[in-house]
Amino acid sequence: MSISVRSYESGDAEATWEAYFRAIRDTASKDYSAEQIAAWAPESVDLAEWNERRSAAHTFVAVVGGRVVGFSDVTGDGLLDMLFVHPDAGGRGVARALVEAVVAKARELGLSELRTHASRTARPAFERFGFEVERANDQNRIRGQNVPNYDMRLTVG
Ligand SMILES: CC(C)(COP(=O)(O)OP(=O)(O)OC[C@H]1O[C@@H](n2cnc3c(N)ncnc32)[C@H](O)[C@@H]1OP(=O)(O)O)[C@@H](O)C(=O)NCCC(=O)NCCS
Repeated sequence: MSISVRSYESGDAEATWEAYFRAIRDTASKDYSAEQIAAWAPESVDLAEWNERRSAAHTFVAVVGGRVVGFSDVTGDGLLDMLFVHPDAGGRGVARALVEAVVAKARELGLSELRTHASRTARPAFERFGFEVERANDQNRIRGQNVPNYDMRLTVG
């Protein structure tokens, strides 16, 4: 399976939302309750606002067979905020390819470290990429629901 990674474009809004929604509803649902999942991935989205948020960061998409199957990003101050892979394409190195692009971007920006708030589901993958847990956020809240995650860091130097 060949994976290519390129910068996000506004035409990717729908496919990235779909990857986000399915990654949470299908993949992360094994680690969180139905209430937590519904708050994290609500049924509907304002795609224009979603596009604005993706465009505000350095966002990368992964393409497999011509289809956008995942995305990740980094802000100018080193927060990797999003890492989502559509379950159809999971377990085949898509997240690794995305994080490699994010790390390269962080170096280009002159950042010395990346931070992320990793879900329970994503923590093992981030650990494989060299991130270390700094602390557990047991009180993290999304739309009124408690959705615990972990603060993790990677030195990029
Ligand atoms: C976490 C997620 C992004 C991983 O995407 P993926 O494309 O399936 O990951 P990859 O195939 O690139 O695997 C990444 C590495 O993590 C490892 N890994 C992934 N899940 C693992 C698990 N549960 N336990 C142990 N290792 C795991 C893989 O073996 C791989 O290691 P390797 O490259 O050394 O072989 C994807 O499952 C997802 O979108 N999850 C739900 C949404 C979510 O929680 N996103 C993060 C928000 S912070």
